[in-house]
Amino acid sequence: MTARVYAIASGKGGTGKTTTTLNLGTSLAMLGKKTLIIDADLGMANLGLLLGLEKSKVTLHEVLSGEAEIKDAIYNGPSGLKVVPCGLSLKGFQKCNPDKLKQIVPIISDGMDYILIDVPAGISRDGVIPLAIADKVLLVVNPELSSLTDALKTKTLTELLGKQVEGVIMNRTELEKTEINRNKVQELLGAQVIEMIPEDANVRRSAAFKTPVVIKNPVSPASIAFRRLAAKIAGEKFIEDDVKAAKGRFLARLTGKIFKRK
Ligand SMILES: Nc1ncnc2c1ncn2[C@@H]1O[C@H](COP(=O)(O)OP(=O)(O)OP(=O)(O)O)[C@@H](O)[C@H]1O
Ligand SMILES: [Mg+2]
Repeated sequence: MTARVYAIASGKGGTGKTTTTLNLGTSLAMLGKKTLIIDADLGMANLGLLLGLEKSKVTLHEVLSGEAEIKDAIYNGPSGLKVVPCGLSLKGFQKCNPDKLKQIVPIISDGMDYILIDVPAGISRDGVIPLAIADKVLLVVNPELSSLTDALKTKTLTELLGKQVEGVIMNRTELEKTEINRNKVQELLGAQVIEMIPEDANVRRSAAFKTPVVIKNPVSPASIAFRRLAAKIAGEKFIEDDVKAAKGRFLARLTGKIFKRK
């Protein structure tokens, strides 16, 4: 079995690629899918930070510089998720040969269901390689024009590499009247919006706990959207009733805690 490889890309920085890689990856793992996420943002890595893996000695930097083997850069995340973090130092970045990722991904694909690659923003060489390796490219956009024009460039680049954009994830939607809506995004990018992730303060809160929001608060609005997206990708039914039941359990736990405190 070899994994389906997804590049999580954008164009513009800060749209939510790392958040999506982490929470989509965790949600797939929660569905029992063997999932590995890689931080390929070699210069500005932060996936490891969101999981408390920032002190890891062996990271993608060491692997891409030929100093370590990929098997030693794979760490355990939540719910069986596997994680390849990237180093934070500039020195480590300078030593990297990003082309090496092409050899590494097939090695780690064996026995996995999904590999998600967190792609750096922009159109640098480091960013092009994951697009070229991936089976499928997902674009993470925000409902604003600058994010969409930059995403369009990444889509064009993806097509130049002979790949297709599988779908668009609209992140940080607030459903304001002034916001660019789903249809407009689809029209501008010429690709399907496969999920809308709402603006949700729990995303930042969970980052402070170094825990994906889908674990910290599985029924918060962004978590529900990430879990629905994972079910869609895995071809499984996402049952809203299960969400309601989980919400009930979550509230019961919360009220239980409050009563205990009293
Ligand atoms: N749905 C959301 N609701 C609220 N905050 C969010 C949401 N998605 C992402 N964020 C916040 O937005 C910021 C940027 O997110 P993230 O780091 O995932 O973006 P990125 O595309 O990986 O950025 P970069 O291009 O710098 O790598 C983070 O502080 C994150 O917590
Ligand atoms: Mg990022």
